[in-house]
Amino acid sequence: MSFVARYGPWALITGASEGTGAEFALLLAGEGLNLILIARREGPLAELATRVRSAGAEVVTASVDLSANDAAVQVAQAAGAREVGLFIANAGADTNSALFLDTDVESWEKLVTLNILTTMRNCHHFGQGMRGRKRGGMILVGSGSCYGGLYGLPVYCGVKAFDLTFGEGLWAEMRDYNVDVLNLILGRTNTPAHRRISEANGRPFDPSAMASAADVARVGLEQLPHGPIYNWGQSNDVAGMAPNSPDERRARILRIKEMSGKYLKASA
Ligand SMILES: NC(=O)c1ccc[n+]([C@@H]2O[C@H](COP(=O)([O-])OP(=O)(O)OC[C@H]3O[C@@H](n4cnc5c(N)ncnc54)[C@H](OP(=O)(O)O)[C@@H]3O)[C@@H](O)[C@H]2O)c1
Repeated sequence: MSFVARYGPWALITGASEGTGAEFALLLAGEGLNLILIARREGPLAELATRVRSAGAEVVTASVDLSANDAAVQVAQAAGAREVGLFIANAGADTNSALFLDTDVESWEKLVTLNILTTMRNCHHFGQGMRGRKRGGMILVGSGSCYGGLYGLPVYCGVKAFDLTFGEGLWAEMRDYNVDVLNLILGRTNTPAHRRISEANGRPFDPSAMASAADVARVGLEQLPHGPIYNWGQSNDVAGMAPNSPDERRARILRIKEMSGKYLKASA
């Protein structure tokens, strides 16, 4: 089956206007899919829409804040009756850059809504159509932070851990209906959002030590049939990201806290 027959005719991407989201859009337009592009800022969405239309794709854009409680309703309205065969939950970075108690709880609630409630609701909505048609795919863009709590990132680690285990269970259920589910677990990646967060906090930003957004999108689409997890840069028989005994987890948390402390001091 061709890619478009398997995952088309429409793909919906959240956080589509730049970085990995935009690279997914460009690749999918090249595969002949039409696109529903979601982000907050209308300008970058419109620019990308012009680019993908010139590649021959039909495009719908919608400005939606995915951290709002009614975001999934707005996303469903943007899609309307279009047949969404591929859903990519891409938006999800932690822009707070704060220790847990050093910012207001509402900011953490928004991160929870963005990564957990909106993603889960979107999967429920678009998954219904995929199950009925017995074909389709979902990619949940995750982070290595999903594998354990880390200093400076407790909420981010928690929401990404939810997505990981949610995606694993969904993979097990949806494979009976020929629907692929992939947790695409990233390490440090060269995206505009990552650059902005680093620069705003005076942290070094070295793209040469990061994955490129274009590579991430390309590999993500290649790995989609091979879920439930792809860990960026690792072969599938490596357990490196996920120690499990309490002793190993404690040691890992403290080791990374030590590294983060040095990193933060170096950039202060
Ligand atoms: N970059 C990394 O090093 C890295 C590492 C591990 C995992 N990841 C994961 O990779 C994914 C992409 O990360 P990223 O670095 O590109 O940053 P990101 O902020 O998650 O994604 C940027 C895209 O999402 C949109 N967006 C962000 N917040 C939104 C919201 N509340 N509502 C609607 N759209 C929103 C942005 O457009 P607008 O600003 O216009 O809304 C932009 O199109 C995330 O899930 C992140 O957790 C990234």
